[in-house]
Amino acid sequence: MKIFLDTAELTEIRRAEEAGLIDGVTTNPTLLSRSAGVDGDPRAILEEICATVPGPVSAEVVATDADSMVREGKKLAKIADNIVVKAPLTEDGLVACRRFRAEGIKVNVTLCFSPTQALLAAKADATYISPFIGRLDDVSTDGMDLIRQIRLIYDSYGFETQILAASIRHPQHVVESALAGADAGTLPAKVLWQLLKHPLTDHGLAAFLADWEKLPEGRRVI
Ligand code: E4P
Repeated sequence: MKIFLDTAELTEIRRAEEAGLIDGVTTNPTLLSRSAGVDGDPRAILEEICATVPGPVSAEVVATDADSMVREGKKLAKIADNIVVKAPLTEDGLVACRRFRAEGIKVNVTLCFSPTQALLAAKADATYISPFIGRLDDVSTDGMDLIRQIRLIYDSYGFETQILAASIRHPQHVVESALAGADAGTLPAKVLWQLLKHPLTDHGLAAFLADWEKLPEGRRVI
């Protein structure tokens, strides 16, 4: 499963990229406006993210009608070759998706909450579909069921749209998304680093180092 970082914070992105742990980045208007603050320039932030990460970087349109979405998306796509235009799962969003794809622009269709929406996004030739697991869990619906249903539908009919598990809140979401066959998951930085941690690793390493110290200094050959 590919791992994307769900953030517009450059410090977080640089750390994860330097560790070689991420395949791409997703942003949304909330994340970008938070990172830009009142003085920052969201476009400059996107340029910097694209220069830092060679993989796909999702940038979302904010228009709600198809013509304006296409106009915005084309501007976003000019920022860098690795931009993936994000469009919402609305009728206009799918019309725009089809038009972007006809021009060779990759599209991440976002805000997916049902298998029927995911089916229509695949028919619109979306590159990625983003089912929001955590937000479904928030309303007492099993988000992971949605990933499983989409996987079954896409495999049954040979759709090539990649399932990008989104709104991931904790490591167990990552494990279950991988087991359910998601092609990718997009994670907040906190969750990425949580994936790495295990108390037995820390405990085991401390014990190894303490035992090594027991050797007389001259015999510590490493
Ligand atoms: C996906 O692309 C979204 O940016 C994101 O995963 C939403 O997550 P949230 O529900 O934690 O805001």
